[in-house]
Amino acid sequence: MNIVVLSGAGLSAEQGLGTFRDADGLWTRYPLERVATPEGFAADPALVHDFYNARRANMREAVPGAAHEALARLSRRPGVTLVTQNVDDLLERAGAEGVIHMHGELTRALCHACGARWQAPEAMAPGDPCPACARAATRPDIVWFGEIPYRMEEIEAALARADLFVSIGTSGTVYPAAGFVELARMAGAETLELNLEASGGRFDVTREGPASRIVPAWVAEILPQ
Ligand code: APR
Repeated sequence: MNIVVLSGAGLSAEQGLGTFRDADGLWTRYPLERVATPEGFAADPALVHDFYNARRANMREAVPGAAHEALARLSRRPGVTLVTQNVDDLLERAGAEGVIHMHGELTRALCHACGARWQAPEAMAPGDPCPACARAATRPDIVWFGEIPYRMEEIEAALARADLFVSIGTSGTVYPAAGFVELARMAGAETLELNLEASGGRFDVTREGPASRIVPAWVAEILPQ
């Protein structure tokens, strides 16, 4: 059975990393057009670096939870593709293999002049030179609004051969990830949502509860003990 898992901020919410659109979500405290768009970065790169430096510091203090550990075990099963919208490294630190970070990663830096990528330092600043071309054109390797998510061809190919699509802890409001459930349905896959509260997307089945409880329970059904 081929399984595609898409995760969102709800997967890491219990680790204290915060969601985006819940009542106390990040986008209620920071205007997303200023901190998560290329235009916002052009207008005030220091503000954008500060925002992601704070996210990176939060991430470093956090530890993977039971849901990350369960998905890490699942990642080693043949036929499983883990796709995440999350930019944290908690799945990797739990031991997950081959995670597709469609919205980029806080641990990576990107040069917008030459396209080089490298390990992000703890704190980034507008004057940081690119290690490849030396220009002060470094940015977090994060996909902002208005940019194209990473590895879409690979994700769509995995969805086209999926028997089961599972969406975990995402509100399903940001495209293209929000459209994955429809692509999976068109491919004939069963669709399952695991979320604190149903997102309203077109899933065959929704199970409600915190990721730390419902994700390990679902993974235990899939993996032989
Ligand atoms: N367990 C499971 N789900 C949870 C939990 C929890 N403990 N806590 C919150 N949730 C659910 C919420 O019910 C909501 O459906 O997580 C979801 C979080 O939704 P969003 O804040 O919209 O986050 P996400 O869907 O990941 O956002 C997508 O938007 O701005 C961006 O690029 C950013 O990748 C992000 C994208």
